[in-house]
Amino acid sequence: MCGIIGYTGKKMNAKDIVLAGLKNLEYRGYDSSGIAVNENGKINLYKSHGKISNLEDRLKGKEILSSTAIAHTRWATHGKPNETNAHPHRCGKVTLVHNGIIENYMELKKELLEKGVTFQSETDTEVACAYINDIYESEKDKIKCLSKACSAFRGSYAFAIIFDDEKDVIYATRKDSPLIVGLSDDGNFAASDVSAILDFTAKYILLEYGEFAKITKDKVTIYNADLKEIEKEVKVATWSATEYKKNGYDHFMLKEINEQPDVIANIFSRYLNDCNYNDIDFLKYDAIHIVACGSAMHAGMVGKYLFQNYANIPVTVDIASEYRYSTQMITPSTLVIIISQSGETADSLAALRLAHSKGATTLGIVNAVGSTIARESDICIYTYAGPEIAVATTKGYTSQVAILSTLVINAMKQKGLLSDELFENIKQDFSNISSNLNHIISKKEDYINVAQKIFDHNDLFFIGRGIDSAVCMEGSLKLKEISYMHSESYAAGELKHGTISLIEKGTPVIAIATNNDLYEKTISNIKETKARGAFAIFITTDNFKNSTFEDFSDISITLPKTTEFVQAIEVSVLLQLIAYETAKLRNCDIDKPKNLAKSVTVE
Ligand code: M6R
Repeated sequence: MCGIIGYTGKKMNAKDIVLAGLKNLEYRGYDSSGIAVNENGKINLYKSHGKISNLEDRLKGKEILSSTAIAHTRWATHGKPNETNAHPHRCGKVTLVHNGIIENYMELKKELLEKGVTFQSETDTEVACAYINDIYESEKDKIKCLSKACSAFRGSYAFAIIFDDEKDVIYATRKDSPLIVGLSDDGNFAASDVSAILDFTAKYILLEYGEFAKITKDKVTIYNADLKEIEKEVKVATWSATEYKKNGYDHFMLKEINEQPDVIANIFSRYLNDCNYNDIDFLKYDAIHIVACGSAMHAGMVGKYLFQNYANIPVTVDIASEYRYSTQMITPSTLVIIISQSGETADSLAALRLAHSKGATTLGIVNAVGSTIARESDICIYTYAGPEIAVATTKGYTSQVAILSTLVINAMKQKGLLSDELFENIKQDFSNISSNLNHIISKKEDYINVAQKIFDHNDLFFIGRGIDSAVCMEGSLKLKEISYMHSESYAAGELKHGTISLIEKGTPVIAIATNNDLYEKTISNIKETKARGAFAIFITTDNFKNSTFEDFSDISITLPKTTEFVQAIEVSVLLQLIAYETAKLRNCDIDKPKNLAKSVTVE
């Protein structure tokens, strides 16, 4: 995680330029931040604990004239989030910012300590900096020096580096952490992703593993792993700077929740009008493995339910950090679906590479265009949800579910399992999705009402069966990550096998029942919790509407009944809004919850 940006150019306000860019990278971590500038030939560092606004406050009123700066926003891995551990780090003639983890830093540190090098921080990054400086003492060619140093580093890195003795030049390189080089008439950039440079330019080069960039104000030179100069394609970003603004909403999360009617409707209409995923032959595969982390894994759970129940295809869903080290049966007849909003999640990427190495076909469901998972997957289906800034995913997740729904429909078609009647119903749901979601979003008072009843509790439980059980997992994570309430999600029939011991008078239980066949069974499970004092919130669909809800629930909310291909999306939006209103009542930092970062590019 962590965000990095560097600028060198014609303008003397490099500090302001990198700070503006850094703010767009804050979703990558916000434990501390820092900047290094070259002021009259002297490298000065400024750092602050906490969010970038603290660094801005610290720099307010300081006149810093510099045409080159590198900056960093940190999600702490090695060492506490304090100023000493904040980047940039500096040793001898080398100053750098880093995203990633140098796994063998203890080994390298020992070597350097024996040579008399001293360290201020607890970080792996300072060791990397000192190691580069050590090599630089004997290898004055900077690209060769960096190449030698990087060949000793195990783990992941994206570096932006400045040397004391070469003013107005930034060097950059990467392995398993993203890095782009931005190009503009006024100067050039190195950055974790394009969002950091969009206020200045849309043109960029993707740096690949093993490549090095030498960046000056009017020239960018890229070297391959053999240190030969190479030409690279200049890309133009498709997302615009305004998509990174709140546009009047109180929070990015609320803005992104409100974008879902359009995002999901676009996915469905793209599918119906011009995309049949003809290059995916579901008859070819013995098994589907869905692999992802966090909410993307929860989307996979919905996908598993749909694939198994409607397309008769056995599916496993694995957490990427486990899958990458497991002895899975991955064969050339396996379809491995990797789901990732950012397309950069380290564990998901490693799982993708493992699947490739075993000859499986890989299918990426990705939002960030041009990201590593998108590029390395055999087949990539973009969700095209637009930039997601709030750390807690909303449209990222529902768009993944929407893509999975369409894949399942395609698999059913190929296997002759899709009846005309069901397809007509699905198409009807697809055309109603935007108005249904807008209707759900408009019911703000209902969610405030639920939030008022639950916000001052310590524990909460979500229960559901079938597809609702998968949806509960995401509802629970959403509430937990932004409101800091302890919440657990259980298959409704499983609660009584132990966890029901935690239900006491007033404990909120959110129960979801949308499936005709399982409806009554879920109600029995709610009654079990009610009998033990639970405060039951019942979420169901309007086809079950009758007067008996109050017999077993304290609050009930009904949604329009649809096929299961869209129902999960609708319930999820409602749960996002309950989480949002609850977090608001608890005065939480909704867009930047504590301890989290959006893009998890370390193991
Ligand atoms: O970018 P990815 O979809 O690969 O990210 C996966 C998870 O890190 C992510 O979904 C995480 O769980 C979010 N905090 C959920 O809101």
